[in-house]
Amino acid sequence: MDIVASGIRPTGFLHLGNYFGALRNFIKMQNENKCFFFIADYHSLTTHPHPSDLQTNVRNVLIDYIAAGLDPEKATIYVQSDVPQVCELSLLLSMNVYVGELQRVASFKEKVRRQPNNVNAGLLNYPVLMAADILLHRADKVPVGKDQEQHLEMTRDFAQRFNHIYQQEYFKLPVAYNFGNELVKIPGLDGSTKMSKSDNEASCIYLSDAPEVVRKKVMRAVSDSGPTEPGQPKSQAVENLFLLMKAVSTPDTVQYFEDQYQACQIRYGDMKKQLANDMIAFLQPIYERILELRSKSDYISKVAREGAEKARESASKTVRDVREIIGFKAL
Ligand code: ADP
Ligand code: TRP
Repeated sequence: MDIVASGIRPTGFLHLGNYFGALRNFIKMQNENKCFFFIADYHSLTTHPHPSDLQTNVRNVLIDYIAAGLDPEKATIYVQSDVPQVCELSLLLSMNVYVGELQRVASFKEKVRRQPNNVNAGLLNYPVLMAADILLHRADKVPVGKDQEQHLEMTRDFAQRFNHIYQQEYFKLPVAYNFGNELVKIPGLDGSTKMSKSDNEASCIYLSDAPEVVRKKVMRAVSDSGPTEPGQPKSQAVENLFLLMKAVSTPDTVQYFEDQYQACQIRYGDMKKQLANDMIAFLQPIYERILELRSKSDYISKVAREGAEKARESASKTVRDVREIIGFKAL
């Protein structure tokens, strides 16, 4: 049985990109693997240091996890900061990580561009803490979206380096994973290639959006003035509408609009109406469970408490082993 570990930062509600890139894989994997799924609240401090939002965001993500189908009976679901052993492992790993390699990470360079007034050491150290999340449970597989590929490569580098330095095959080399096929990237409704709350809130459909909100957002999605000759390549915005449709609609529906596009007869209004209906149908059961879980505060707290206990057990064992391998001994 493989060990699986992954997490999502609690920076707001989860959107369809998070769902198709990460959460859907969590749900599929929980049946046949030993899974650890967490809410990466330490990681969220690099960009969202507001104490008043933190607990609400963590709770909302936990509700989204469960509403979408994560089962606390099957997977260990926990809040990262409830398992502080990850900080010790991160510190220990960081001794064999070079500042230069961290400065070259694409996500770090992007954050430097985006928040030049807050280039904190947490941002630089982000890949080390992320590696610690994964190695803490000695995971084999890590379900993530395409944007996390480089972080996973670094995790493997750090694991391999540790094994090499201490001459032990202690850590496995974990791989980024998407069930069945390649890592995915869900586009935004604003014509951008990635649905992301960090870029543009309006480009996101949240799992907790009410049906009328979903409809309004989809109807306002960016398109273009339509093809004028057969075989004309699609603009990014229109390609995005097709990609979103592929995620939630039947293949027949997608083919119908593809044919309409090729024949230059497509009406984007009709396509968006269909897309909105299919998204609403897809999200309906999740949305209803979210509303239900919001009133079950005790249950949510219990899931977090029990998940933390199980995660700490696995984490403590790894940290104990690592301390011993490194050579810490009682005097
Ligand atoms: P955001 O970009 O909205 O801030 P996060 O960075 O917190 O989202 O992403 C959490 C998880 O969801 C990661 O595994 C990431 O790869 C995945 N993810 C986020 N956006 C998308 C997307 N548009 N398509 C596919 N996966 C995504
Ligand atoms: N970096 C991930 C993101 O931005 C979140 C994350 C933190 C993560 N630790 C992780 C993902 C460990 C997988 C495994 O989405």
